Amino acid sequence: MSQAPKLRLGVNVDHIATLRNARGGRNPDPVRAAKLAIEAGADGITAHLREDRRHIRDEDMARLKAEIDRPLNFEMAATDEMLRIALATKPHACCLVPERREELTTEGGLDVVGQHNALAPVIARLNDAGIRVSLFIAADPRQIEMAAKLRAPVVEIHTGAWCDAVTDGHKEKAEAEWQRIIKGAALAYSAGLEVHAGHGLDYDTAERIAALPEIVELNIGYFMIGEALFVGLADTVGAMRAAMDRGRGA
Ligand code: PXP
Repeated sequence: MSQAPKLRLGVNVDHIATLRNARGGRNPDPVRAAKLAIEAGADGITAHLREDRRHIRDEDMARLKAEIDRPLNFEMAATDEMLRIALATKPHACCLVPERREELTTEGGLDVVGQHNALAPVIARLNDAGIRVSLFIAADPRQIEMAAKLRAPVVEIHTGAWCDAVTDGHKEKAEAEWQRIIKGAALAYSAGLEVHAGHGLDYDTAERIAALPEIVELNIGYFMIGEALFVGLADTVGAMRAAMDRGRGA
């Protein structure tokens, strides 16, 4: 690749809704946060409608689609209910993720190798509706090859294990995960897939991963919403953008 393309920042607003839901009611409003993030430089907004509606609710997704003027990335499990809502909402993109009720966050990538029969019709329906499908997977060659076979145009590489190892100071594990991400991004790109990454990223890990030219989008939520409590969301988006630009230029 001669020159790395622009790296887009997708801001995940789930945890604005987590705060709101702690008391019920309307505040803080995830749609207001999405608009502010866009004004501050976000290229798109991500929200995950979970089966148990623990943060984003159906009406949030509808309002995000109606009120924001940047691409909406609808994260969802590949269930009939979510497919119906996604087809009615018509977001720019759908990111298919595994989901278990008891997990605190999306813990691992989708097993597209094991579940290709169940995923194929969901991917086809979304493709036919003109919605860009992305599969949230570990940087595992078998998963990447199957994602390409299933005709998903995009994969999002799960960076959670790498970020946890970096944060916990497990140097060997962090290095092994980092090498897996480097190889996975290159393999996915060479298989013709658009490559995104996300989960657990903060300023430092976003800066490092921004150096990989195959990756064109990072989706980041939890760290940014936490940071926004101290410095505000606009400054957080600005600082994340700056970290990504530094990494891209490195
Ligand atoms: N990408 C995907 C597919 C996710 O499931 C999540 C978490 O909702 C993120 C990105 C963002 O992860 P984090 O909130 O840890 O930044």
